[in-house]
Amino acid sequence: MAVSKKVFIKTYGCQMNVYDSQRMEDVLKPLGYETTDGPDDADMVILNTCHIREKASEKVFSELGRLRNIKKERPDGDMIIAVAGCVAQAEGEEIVKRAPYVDMVFGPQTYHNLPEMVAKAHRAGNVASRGILNTDFPEEDKFDHLPAPTKPEGYTAFLSIQEGCDKFCTYCVVPYTRGSEFSRPVAQVLKEARHLVDQGILELTLLGQNVNAYHGDDGNGSEWGLGRLIRELAEIDGLKRIRYTTSYPAEVDQGLIDAHRDVEKLMPYLHLPIQSGSNRVLAAMNRNHTRDEYLRVIDDLKTARPDLALSSDFIVGFPGENERDFEDSLDIIRQVGFIQAYSFVYSARPGTPAAVMDLQVDKIVANERLQTLQKLLNDIQSDFNQSCIDKEFPILLERLGRNEGQLVGRSPYMQPVHVDAPVDLIGQICDLKIISARPNSLGAELIIK
Ligand code: 5AD
Ligand code: SF4
Repeated sequence: MAVSKKVFIKTYGCQMNVYDSQRMEDVLKPLGYETTDGPDDADMVILNTCHIREKASEKVFSELGRLRNIKKERPDGDMIIAVAGCVAQAEGEEIVKRAPYVDMVFGPQTYHNLPEMVAKAHRAGNVASRGILNTDFPEEDKFDHLPAPTKPEGYTAFLSIQEGCDKFCTYCVVPYTRGSEFSRPVAQVLKEARHLVDQGILELTLLGQNVNAYHGDDGNGSEWGLGRLIRELAEIDGLKRIRYTTSYPAEVDQGLIDAHRDVEKLMPYLHLPIQSGSNRVLAAMNRNHTRDEYLRVIDDLKTARPDLALSSDFIVGFPGENERDFEDSLDIIRQVGFIQAYSFVYSARPGTPAAVMDLQVDKIVANERLQTLQKLLNDIQSDFNQSCIDKEFPILLERLGRNEGQLVGRSPYMQPVHVDAPVDLIGQICDLKIISARPNSLGAELIIK
């Protein structure tokens, strides 16, 4: 029996990292590692990092400074500090140099090797740094080497079906940190999905950096696209809801559009980043779609599923973006009416083409644009939430709310919904009537029939 130890995994960035952190827990469990929710009593701390913008990367080094102090306080220095994820992949050697008290650095494609890395760290004994660096893109499929996932808390789970990106948007580090596009084979995905549903999961979110570029091997010499996969997943009894994220507009194909038309379990809410409303900027970003092409894609999707609503990502202050380009972004937001969105000031990332483009936009100007854009997005989101009042939605009640007697769930559109309801409704999809709206959430009452 393995000795009981504690691991604290701190996750930064996207949902892929959330999924990866859960899988790291699964790998570490057989080695005797239980999870803990802070670094103070942890034998091992893993920072699962994000490299997408400068701020995200810098957070890692400040957190490492704090961990160094905790490690110093341990009587025998017996603590493993690890950096995983995209900063590890991009800046592995730099981390080892800049923070020599870090024991392990490993990228997103190697965490199935954690048992070996941990054994190596233990063998090294309590030296100042165990200096283990593993940022390969190994030939073998890490998913083949991972144990079956343990049930995440609650009734919803992520399932990673695709990784990496070949699109090379000129601002983005993902193709470098996550590598080229890879789709998990159909059978592997279905097995993991069934396993999660057997454990009580009701809602699955399929994940991929470019999830709709999915083209998984079906084992019979053909490849399935995302639409086909969703149809098959929808056949799983007990699975009630399917979502997927993040999608790439130029890869939305007819199979996927048809799945939105036919598959009831596929939620009518789609995160489809556009990044900018200006054709000039979209071209400089190498996005592979114009503004009109984007609008056509969502038209097709909405024809297939009229209640579909969209969310997006926006970057402001991309090199060369002028006032007119920015106005084009505001304009497309008004035109589409995104009910939710993430927006960022452009951050120059070393090694990406945009970082060396002329006409970098002044930071103050970019921040002003961000404020304007976010105000518009927030107004639209509030209006949408208001428009939900008196509507009835099936809501998956997931957990207790903050107030006595209150439960919290998510609407089909991912809005958090609060309702006074008995505890035994947790884990059920209930018909609720929306009675109030806030900027970021809704209030509802149970419909008693
Ligand atoms: N600067 C600002 N935002 C970025 N994103 C990706 N790279 C950058 C960057 N260099 C944003 C995009 C993407 C989201 C995940 O992060 O909007 O869709
Ligand atoms: Fe980055 Fe573009 Fe790939 Fe998305 S599609 S991960 S923004 S390179």
